[in-house]
Amino acid sequence: MEKDKRLVIGADHAGYKVKQDLVEHLKKKGYDVLDVGTYDEASVDYPDYAAKVGHLVADGEYPKGVLVCGSGLGVTIAANKIGGVRAVTANDVESAKLSRAHNNANVLGMGARLIDSELASRVLDEWLETEFLGGRHERRLEKITLIEGEERR
Ligand code: RB5
Repeated sequence: MEKDKRLVIGADHAGYKVKQDLVEHLKKKGYDVLDVGTYDEASVDYPDYAAKVGHLVADGEYPKGVLVCGSGLGVTIAANKIGGVRAVTANDVESAKLSRAHNNANVLGMGARLIDSELASRVLDEWLETEFLGGRHERRLEKITLIEGEERR
C-alpha cells in the first residue's frame, strides 16, 4: 500500500528557518505538506502552532505532524496535552527511529537551536520511514490512552 504522504508542519519564530527548509525537503520527496506557520521570524508563542498541528493529527485530518521550536521541547509538551497525540522530541536519528518503532509517535518535535536543517532532514526521514512494530508495544500504548481517559475525569 502506498504510504500516506500528507504531513502537517508548524514552527515558532525560532524554528521558522528550519521549518522552511523541511517543507522544501518534503516537497522534493513528494509529500503533500500543509504549513500552518509561522511565516516569518517575528516572535510568536509556540503553543499556538503545537495546537494547530496537534488538533489536525488528533482529528485524523493528517496522519503525522512536525513541529520545530528552539529546542523541540516546548512544542512537544504543548502538543501532548491533546488527546490522541503522541509527540516526541527527537534531535537525533536514533531517538526518531525508536519513537516510531516503539511509541508510534504521530508528532515529531525538533529544536532549531540544537540541530541544523541538514540533520533535521535526516531525523525527519528516519522518523517517516520507520514503521511501528506493534505487538507488546501496542499494549503499552493502550495504557497511555487509558491514562488520557483518567485525566479527563
Ligand atoms: C523561544 O525563545 C523558545 O523558548 C522556543 O522556541 C522553544 O525552544 C520552547 O521550548
